[in-house]
Amino acid sequence: MRHFTSIKQFDDLKAALEAAKYVKANPFADQALGKNKTALLVFFNNSLRTRLSTQKAAMNLGMNVMVLDVNQGAWKLETERGVVMDGDKSEHLLEAIPVMGCYADVIGVRSFARFESREDDYTEKILNQFIQYSGKPVFSMEAATRHPLQTFADMLTIEEHKKTARPKVVMTWAPHPKALPQAVPNSFAEGLSMTDYDFVIANPEGYDLAPEFTKGLRVTHNQDEALEGADFVYAKNWASYEQYGQVLSKDMNWTVTKEKMALTNNAFFLHCLPVRRNMIVSDDVIESPQSLVIPEAANRVVAAQTVLKMILQDL
Ligand code: CP
Repeated sequence: MRHFTSIKQFDDLKAALEAAKYVKANPFADQALGKNKTALLVFFNNSLRTRLSTQKAAMNLGMNVMVLDVNQGAWKLETERGVVMDGDKSEHLLEAIPVMGCYADVIGVRSFARFESREDDYTEKILNQFIQYSGKPVFSMEAATRHPLQTFADMLTIEEHKKTARPKVVMTWAPHPKALPQAVPNSFAEGLSMTDYDFVIANPEGYDLAPEFTKGLRVTHNQDEALEGADFVYAKNWASYEQYGQVLSKDMNWTVTKEKMALTNNAFFLHCLPVRRNMIVSDDVIESPQSLVIPEAANRVVAAQTVLKMILQDL
């Protein structure tokens, strides 16, 4: 594998999940693979899980790790070409990226949707510039439209906990005070479309995801109907795609509560974290024995390590 930007890059999802199970059982088996190799993790946005789990994954593979927070301590970066740089941005991304490529063997990038231009976000302008100009393998640590390492960890968690071959998985929109990107739900839909699971997306009107991510999938605007008989409930907020980046609703009737979970088949609860309690999910649901949010976060190390291992094997 050269670059990793989408879960769809796994030609064989089952084989990828088996590879992840091997990594989980044998976390230090490939220490020689990363010896004298450097992972540079570049963050344009905040992170807890991705930052720590990817560092741990790289260290488990014997790699050296460098972390750059672009907005804290680095020069402020201009990302648009043709701009007269007479403002507060001292360096252009087009120099910064190849320089970073000189110092690293593999580069991870976190660059969220900015909600300034749907076209710029959905063409992955920042991530693709790293691919084009760094000269090094690049993997997404959440870009504008996808969060594939999260999806890989989510799918591994479902695989580990499912009680039937074809579980019913419901991804439901839930309220949030701020506009959040569509990367996690897009990516989760992309991943679930690669399975034969009974998968339903529930969201209010105006919140349908981009058609490229929902083609052939079941989408409903009735959350209660979707939750009936669910084995897994994956809650997430996202801003509107149609009215790009807008918050159209904060309807608390979409919060995942004990009453909502009672509609399910004693479903497991999933969320990528961080989560706003009593907006997205009630305290009692996230603290219940059916909540998998911590094992899901733990699997982020496994997901990152499996992908980094595949990249290192092809260096
Ligand atoms: N789920 C996730 O990516 O968490 P962070 O934003 O904390 O990295």
